[in-house]
Amino acid sequence: MGVADLFSSSFITIDIGFRYLKIVQVKKGRNNTLSVINYGIGDTPRGCIKNGAIMDRDGVVSEINRVIKEHNINAREAKIVMSGTNIISRVIMIDYVPESEADKMIWQEIKDTIPVDLAANRIDYKILGTTTVNGQKKIKVFVTVVLKKIVDNYIELLNSLKLKPLAVDIPSNSVSKFFKLDIDIGNINGMVRHRKPKKDNDTYIVFDLGSETTIINILKNKTPEFNRVILKGSSRIDMEIFKDLQMQPNEMQKAELHKKRYGISDTAVAGTEYICSQAAKRVMDSIIKDIKMCIDFYLTRCNGEHPSKIFLIGGGSQMKGIQEYFEEHLELPAYRINVARIKGIEFSANLDTDRLNYLVNALGVAL
Ligand SMILES: Nc1ncnc2c1ncn2[C@@H]1O[C@H](COP(=O)(O)OP(=O)(O)OP(=O)(O)O)[C@@H](O)[C@H]1O
Ligand SMILES: [Mg+2]
Repeated sequence: MGVADLFSSSFITIDIGFRYLKIVQVKKGRNNTLSVINYGIGDTPRGCIKNGAIMDRDGVVSEINRVIKEHNINAREAKIVMSGTNIISRVIMIDYVPESEADKMIWQEIKDTIPVDLAANRIDYKILGTTTVNGQKKIKVFVTVVLKKIVDNYIELLNSLKLKPLAVDIPSNSVSKFFKLDIDIGNINGMVRHRKPKKDNDTYIVFDLGSETTIINILKNKTPEFNRVILKGSSRIDMEIFKDLQMQPNEMQKAELHKKRYGISDTAVAGTEYICSQAAKRVMDSIIKDIKMCIDFYLTRCNGEHPSKIFLIGGGSQMKGIQEYFEEHLELPAYRINVARIKGIEFSANLDTDRLNYLVNALGVAL
C-alpha cells in the first residue's frame, strides 16, 4: 500500500436519473487518478423526481441502500449530482472592465437579466473569457441558478442515508469535469469515421441522452459555455412504439425492449422493426429540432464557436443507429463515450466497463 492510500479515503457518488440511479464508490489515488472500486445501477422509483427535487425519499433511500448492499459499497461520505430539470444556466455578457471591477458588474447584470429571488437561490458564475461583439470587447460569463431548497433536499437525502455530504453538484459541472480528462477517441474500433471533423477546434457538444431528458452541454476548451435541458428523452420512443403497435396496458416494458432491439434502422421496410424504427426516428427528429435551435442560440446569442464533434452519453446513447443518426443530422463526427480510452480513471479488475456511458455524471462529480 502506497503512502497516498493511507490518507486518501474512498467516497460514494450518486446520480439519480428519472429511470436509473447510479452509485459509484471511488478513491482518489496517486497523480489524481480516480479508482472506481465498485458501482451499481438501481431502479429509480417511478415518479419520484418532481421539478428537480426528490419527492419519494423513503423509496429512493431503500433502493440506494439495496444497491449499496448488493455491490459491497461501504464508504460513509458522499457527493451527489442534482437532477438537471430545475437548474437555470445562462451565458451573459458585460462590457469589458478590468478584473477587479468585474464582480460588481456581473452581479448587476445577473440582477438585471435573470429575474430570480437572490435569497432563495444559489447563484454561481464563472468567467469564460473575453469576446468581441460588433467590435466591442465583452466579458463572457456562465451563470447557474438553483433553488437552495432543492440543494437542501439532496443534502437531506444523504442524511437519511447516513452518508456525510461532501458536495451537491449540478450536471453541467459533473459533465465538464469528466470531459476535462484526457479522452482518447483516436482510432476507436479501428474504423474509419463516417464524417471527418470539418474543422478541428476544442469546442464540442456532449449529449446526455437520458430517459426523460436530453441534456445539451457545449464545452469550449473543456469549460461549459452552454447547457440546456430538453424535456424529452428515450422513454418517449417506448411510448410511441407502444401506441403504434397498439400494445396492451401492461406491455410498456415490451415496448422498451423493442426499442433496444431495433433502434433506428435504415434497412427495415416493413414489420415490427420498421414500425419501431419509425417511432424512434420520429422522436429523435423532434429532439434534433430542439437541439438545432439550441445550437443556433449558442452561436448567435452566446457568440459561440461552431462545435467540431459530438460525444454521446447516457443510456439512450446505447441505441442502435444513434451515432449515425447524430452524424447525419448534425454533420459532425459523433463518439460514444463507452468505447473511448480515458486516462485518469481506472476500474477495479472485476468491474464491467461497458456501462461507462451511464456513469459520466457520477464519475464527473467525483473529480
Ligand atoms: N440499448 C438501448 N437502446 C435504446 N435505449 C436504451 C438502451 N439501453 C438503455 N436505453 C434507454 O436509456 C434510458 C436510461 O438511460 P439513463 O440511465 O441515462 O437515464 P436516466 O439518467 O435515468 O434519465 P434522465 O437523465 O432523463 O434523468 C432508458 O430510457 C432506456 O430505455
Ligand atoms: Mg441521467
